[in-house]
Amino acid sequence: MNREEIHVDNGFIDRMIAEKYDNDLENLIMILQDINAQYNYLPMEALLLVSENLGVPVSEVYGVATFYKAFSLEPRGKHIIHLCTGTACHVRGAERVKERLEQTLGIKAGGTTADKCFTLETVRCIGCCSLGPVVNVNDKTYARIDSEEIIKIVEKYNGQAIQKEVKIEQTFVKSIIKKFLKNFQARR
Ligand code: FES
Repeated sequence: MNREEIHVDNGFIDRMIAEKYDNDLENLIMILQDINAQYNYLPMEALLLVSENLGVPVSEVYGVATFYKAFSLEPRGKHIIHLCTGTACHVRGAERVKERLEQTLGIKAGGTTADKCFTLETVRCIGCCSLGPVVNVNDKTYARIDSEEIIKIVEKYNGQAIQKEVKIEQTFVKSIIKKFLKNFQARR
């Protein structure tokens, strides 16, 4: 479980609840949506502030936060990948896509990369079974993807970083080979 909390901007939350939502409990879900959008999850400190500002027990705020799947109480990545592992997607190769994703990102499904760039989650069905395997990244849906295609999708969101690492590694190996050949030829 990733329990790393981030710094919460109290001023932003206080102002948002007062100015945008009139400190009105009726707006609790929208308040939580705004906080979730700001931090990509609901930090515990933020829930305490909501409870204080709305004058309701924190258990009530927590109850709503845990009821809706759209909210997360754990820190999440900037890009949320939802891979469908429902039956239709499964028979079309979702498992291979999942393995490739886990291998590429270095995390298991349910996890978040150390740089907080990606969170990988599996879902049971997102309603477009004939297009499987299907992946959602943030709000965009990608259909009929395979284990090669998924790498291009990941690279699109974080491509430069991955490509750069590979290029640096290749350049490093090439320079070692070059040096070795030079020394080898000099000795002959
Ligand atoms: S099973 Fe994947 S979209 Fe329905």
